[in-house]
Amino acid sequence: MWGGRFDKPPADVARAFTRSFPVDRRMYREDIVASRAHAAMLGRQEIIPVGSANALVDALDALLTDLDQTGGPPLTADDEDVHSYVERELTARIGDDGRRLHVARSRNDQVATDFRLYCKGFCLRLATAVLDLLGVLAQRADEEAETVAPGFTHLQVAQPVTLGHYFLALFEMHRRDVDNILYAYTVSDVCPLGAGALAGLAFDIDRDYVAEELCFSQVARNSLDAVSDRDFVSAVLQACATLSGHLSRWAEDLVIWASPGFGLVRFDDAFATGSSMLPQKLNPDVAELTRAKAGAIAGAAVGWQATLKGVPLSYALDMQEDKRSLFRVEDDVVAALRALTGALRTLTVNRERMAEVASLGHSTAIEIADYLTERGVPFRDAHAAVGRLVRLAEDRGVELADLEEADFVEADERLSGDVRDRLELQRAVARRTSLGGTAPARVREEAARANRWLRWQRDHVQDLTGRGLPLALRPSASAP
Ligand code: ARG
Repeated sequence: MWGGRFDKPPADVARAFTRSFPVDRRMYREDIVASRAHAAMLGRQEIIPVGSANALVDALDALLTDLDQTGGPPLTADDEDVHSYVERELTARIGDDGRRLHVARSRNDQVATDFRLYCKGFCLRLATAVLDLLGVLAQRADEEAETVAPGFTHLQVAQPVTLGHYFLALFEMHRRDVDNILYAYTVSDVCPLGAGALAGLAFDIDRDYVAEELCFSQVARNSLDAVSDRDFVSAVLQACATLSGHLSRWAEDLVIWASPGFGLVRFDDAFATGSSMLPQKLNPDVAELTRAKAGAIAGAAVGWQATLKGVPLSYALDMQEDKRSLFRVEDDVVAALRALTGALRTLTVNRERMAEVASLGHSTAIEIADYLTERGVPFRDAHAAVGRLVRLAEDRGVELADLEEADFVEADERLSGDVRDRLELQRAVARRTSLGGTAPARVREEAARANRWLRWQRDHVQDLTGRGLPLALRPSASAP
């Protein structure tokens, strides 16, 4: 490919170290589709003979079909990267016309184009998978709208909430993930092809045509930036890091909740694992591994940023590492997302135990303070009075509701009568009807709203999938 000015071939160790084919063969479809647009443009602009351009387009189509059938380029191929593989394969198939493809193009603008196409497709696949999770969350929220669950701060039981409200908290987190992923999609949606090696080209190329063929909505405006810019990789990795961080947080909750001491939930057998020695064990491996992967994914995002910051403009081979980082993150985040979605869909909730734990630690004490404040007592005084009652209950080893009426009246004379009913869990959650609050009525409303958002966002992602990628690269058309 570039042997002309060299006296000898590269040393084995140098070549093995610098070649990227084993990694970037994964984007053979993007490379072929981008090359097809480039070849068609070369013919239209009469930069190469029209007959050669047609031969190239046909051969590229045939190559794509063939490679889809075999599951991509053979791992054993000895090429430097996927770009040289495709070009060599074309030339083997159609002879000299294959050798005309690389005019008015460099691997520098080619690889940036391929990888942007890949990232756009990945963002849409990932967004779709997050939307699947959001569907499960909205459904489970509705099912558990009335279920009283312990709400924790500092991992101490703090106040009762509804379990549906918890699921909707996760819905909010992951809704933002979809926004982040679509932002990364937009950052990726710029066509660098036509920048050449770094300086632009002396041919009458048609960059708008190429960008349109490849469904990019913008053309990169500066050839140096076009081949240097990997902000889109940072954006995708950052979106993945935030997403996996979110997954990890609730995976951790589930690990704790499933522990026998808590016993709030149980993983379905299909999403748990056993112990080789202890026959009774049911381990939350899916949640644990999700938690672990989040560390590596965050590391990849930071690592990529550290790599990029030292690269002088424009292209340097450092940038080749972007594929390795992203592909690994893709595998991890998609696998974790799918597995954890399945674990959540099949999770059994122990509602009695939820209520039992929710009532621990005098979790509704604030009801009494609120009661007093409603009757004109400054909140600080109310807080102190209820604090004394909690102390008394602890000294006697009973719950607040088990104290005598006289004890309440002694703490404050306004605490007579049925005030103790306020301590009841269902009542405490039902009263929290403020916007964003945990009351079952609110949760139902918000679950319905979540479902409306979900329908709208699904349509949006489907629409982007339909117009944001060339036909051959749309997720449904791609090889697995
Ligand atoms: N495999 C390279 C990459 O992934 C392609 C571009 C190589 N360009 C070069 N001048 N060495 O970035």
